[in-house]
Amino acid sequence: MIHPTLAPLPKGFLWGAASAAYQVEGAWNEDGKGVSNWDKFVRIPGKTFKGTTGDIAVDHYHRYREDVQLMAELGLKAYRFSVAWTRIFPDGRGKVNPKGIEFYSNLIDELRKAGIEPILTLYHWDLPQALQDEYGGWESRQIIEDFTNYSIELFKQFGSRVKYWVSLNEQNIFTMLGYRAAAHPPGVKDEKRFYQANHHASLANASVIGAFRTHVPDGKIGPSFAYSPAYPLTANPEDILAAEIAEELNSHWWMDVYAWGKYPKVAWKALERKRVVPIIEEGDAQLLEAGRPDFMGLNYYQSSTYEKNPLEGGVGQAEMNTTGKKGSSKDAGIQGMFKTVANSYLERTNWDWNIDPDGLRIALRRIESRYKLPVLISENGLGEFDEEKEGGIIEDDYRIDYIRSHVKAIQEAVTDGVKILGYCIWSFTDLLSWLNGFQKRYGLVYVNQHEEGEHDLSRIKKKSYYWYKNVIHTNGEEI
Ligand code: BG6
Repeated sequence: MIHPTLAPLPKGFLWGAASAAYQVEGAWNEDGKGVSNWDKFVRIPGKTFKGTTGDIAVDHYHRYREDVQLMAELGLKAYRFSVAWTRIFPDGRGKVNPKGIEFYSNLIDELRKAGIEPILTLYHWDLPQALQDEYGGWESRQIIEDFTNYSIELFKQFGSRVKYWVSLNEQNIFTMLGYRAAAHPPGVKDEKRFYQANHHASLANASVIGAFRTHVPDGKIGPSFAYSPAYPLTANPEDILAAEIAEELNSHWWMDVYAWGKYPKVAWKALERKRVVPIIEEGDAQLLEAGRPDFMGLNYYQSSTYEKNPLEGGVGQAEMNTTGKKGSSKDAGIQGMFKTVANSYLERTNWDWNIDPDGLRIALRRIESRYKLPVLISENGLGEFDEEKEGGIIEDDYRIDYIRSHVKAIQEAVTDGVKILGYCIWSFTDLLSWLNGFQKRYGLVYVNQHEEGEHDLSRIKKKSYYWYKNVIHTNGEEI
């Protein structure tokens, strides 16, 4: 039973699960699909865990009917998926590929038949390689027009059948990893280029939201932001300052622009001193201000704790743990500003991600206080090793514990007064984790797919699937 002091979740709450095209579809070169930046990047030796690719992924492209059937049986209310731009426009623009439209049209129809609300993400990181080659992708302002035209095509095709839309997935992550850490395509390490490419992405995001108002006037749209609320390590004012600037530079830099069309002032000043602020052209401010979202999409996995980081000898970019070997990640930061540090109050996963359900409540409350926007929790979940026991049983109690505690945090946040539209577990089926292969599993449904060898890709319901079914059925009364 829900705790008597907690407010019940609203009727019509979107109990969901999520995925992204590159991580599930496979069929990377079928039915006229063009090549994306990820199709190319994964072929560079050493870039992904054991050289894994999404060539086959979990073959959702061919098995989507079976997957939707599993969603229906679970009682899912919403399914968030992304469209691969290269299926619609193989070269990023020009002639529409009818086969691409057909695939998503069928998927949407199948979902609606099963009473599942489709939540369509326009961009989940797989950029047409043709646009990268032609003008450097996000580094050129041309991307604003091309991304808008691609999005308008989807609005026209699906606007009458899809009510909820996500514009950009985790703009902060794809730009940081792509242009600052060189861990994602295009593999660049350059602060100035990072902030400029990111500015273009913000403009493209605003432009698409503007076009949405004309084409899907009854729909709802917002970006999905990867928000990791910042905590100071101690009450030492130096740590407080470190956490505050981390919150500004890692989060407000994006969320302020989405909600208000303005960059945060203190962070702007700091970047101006480093000579890395983006070039703002005439009309940019108006475009940003006009592209306000209907909701803030929140992808929440963990909080981050910070302490001061000296200018001389401080830490910078660091290695990530992509192997599942606990303790192999290193603290990262910006010299002279902040660095991450372990939080002794929190447990960590095998990939060194903090487990912090209160952090979700904190994130939700901060968004409510600062932006006063409803929130769609567009991702939350646990990446762990799963073991298939004899008889096809996967007892992922650790995942149930994780999700249960986060659902409780949602109930607390609703009680606090935050308006929450829905909750999408990452992920519905197991899928390819960009840099971590298939062994870092998130799904409610296990997929027999691994880094090496050929596998039958069969689907098995995990214990968490059955548990979530009851959560949905009771609208969160029983967790
Ligand atoms: C989010 C992404 O950053 O986190 C997903 O939107 C991703 O695409 C998820 O898979 C989990 O991250 P990872 O690195 O563990 O796969």
